[in-house]
Order: sequence, then C-alpha cells, then structure tokens
Amino acid sequence: MTEPEFLRTTRVFYDTVAVDYADHFRDAMDDRPLDRALLTAFAEQVRAAGDGPVADLGCGPGHVTAHLNALGVPAFGVDLSSRMVEVARRAYPGLRFDVGSISSLDLKDDSLAGVLAWYSIIHMPEERLPDVFAEFHRVLAPGGHLLVAFQVGDEPLHLARPWGHEVSLDFRRRRPDHVAGLLGQAGLAVRARLVREPEGPDTAPQAFLLARKPAGSAES
Ligand SMILES: C[S@@+](CC[C@H](N)C(=O)[O-])C[C@H]1O[C@@H](n2cnc3c(N)ncnc32)[C@H](O)[C@@H]1O
Repeated sequence: MTEPEFLRTTRVFYDTVAVDYADHFRDAMDDRPLDRALLTAFAEQVRAAGDGPVADLGCGPGHVTAHLNALGVPAFGVDLSSRMVEVARRAYPGLRFDVGSISSLDLKDDSLAGVLAWYSIIHMPEERLPDVFAEFHRVLAPGGHLLVAFQVGDEPLHLARPWGHEVSLDFRRRRPDHVAGLLGQAGLAVRARLVREPEGPDTAPQAFLLARKPAGSAES
C-alpha cells in the first residue's frame, strides 16, 4: 500500500532533525513540574491496573520513555522516524524502541497496560484521528490507561528550517473538548483534562487528557 504523503513528510522532517531535537529536548521536563506530575499520576495508575507494558507512541529520542521506566513502568517506545529510534536506542541501550506508526500499530489486541501519546497526535490530519484513537483502544487491555498531550489552539503552527535544516512541518493544535469527544467515540472514557499556560519556549497552552479503556470492554 502506498504511504500517505503526510506520513512521508513527517518522517523526513524527524529523520532530518533527530539529533538536534534530542540535544534540545533531552532535559525539557526538568523545569516542567506539572508535566512530570501528570506522568507520575499516569505511571501510578498503570502500576495499580496491573504490570503490563506501556507504549510511548511517537517517543522521539526516548527521554519520556526513560522517564516512565524510572517511575517503575515497563515502557517501550515506537516512532515513525527510524533516525529518532536510532538516537533513542543509543541514548537508552537497555530499553526497547521500535519503528512504527500510531495509525497502524504492530501490537496485539488488549496487550498494553498503558499508552502514552506525548505530542505525537499533533502531526495527524484531523480525519485520521478517529482511526488513531481506535488503534489506541484496540491495543489497550481492558482497564488500561491513556495519556495524550498536545498544543491547544485552532490554527496549525508551521515550523520551517528548524536548527537550519531545509525541512518544514505543520504542528496541529486542537481543542481539548474536541479531542475528548473523539476519545469518547473510540470507547475511551476521559477521566481528567488539564490545560496549562505556555511556559518557556511554548507557543500555546498545552493540553493533557487522561482516559481509560473500560475494564469490562469487550470490543477491540
Ligand atoms: C513533537 S515530537 C515528540 C517526541 C516525544 N514524544 C517528545 O515529547 O519529545 C513528535 C514525534 O512523533 C513522531 N511521530 C509523528 N507521527 C507519527 C506517527 N504517525 N507514528 C509514530 N510516530 C509519529 C515523530 O517522528 C516525532 O518523533
């Protein structure tokens, strides 16, 4: 099957910037206590629900995957960009990182205690989001937890020539209520939503949604 153009563009962008991105964002969460608090709450919920693995989908250079592992969660990463996966494997040789797309995951039904989508749905066209959330629902075990992070807004941010590289990409901003509605339609019950104001280099408020696949969920 031919790869959609948006996936090719996204992969080329992140393959090109992978090393600079990793250097720039490695310590990004050090001065973001609210973001860390949400990851800590997510990790605690996942551990309470059982001991299954957690997938960090769109893991980039793997620093958040490593953070989850440090919180006692057996997390692995998946990313569209093979360069990002290389960078992640080099930085965290003890952890698992796979190449793959959130739109079509090479993961078994009901196999995960948790899914983290930390700024990875931001490159998905609007019409693809229902399928992505259906994938999250499919791979989560009943009772499994989801944490999604994204920028808030109505217009995309067009990022051109990051770190001087000749690439550009749209970063889609969305409304939390809209994303929560789509998660609900996919069978994922939204349990918490937080919007924080921009901090440091942020260009928009940031949204975080916690959701759960119902424990008695039969459909996959
Ligand atoms: C803004 S970065 C976020 C990376 C990391 N989660 C972080 O917070 O630093 C977006 C990441 O999502 C990945 N990505 C974008 N679309 C994807 C897709 N369809 N499937 C898997 N990963 C994807 C990109 O390659 C990139 O590494």
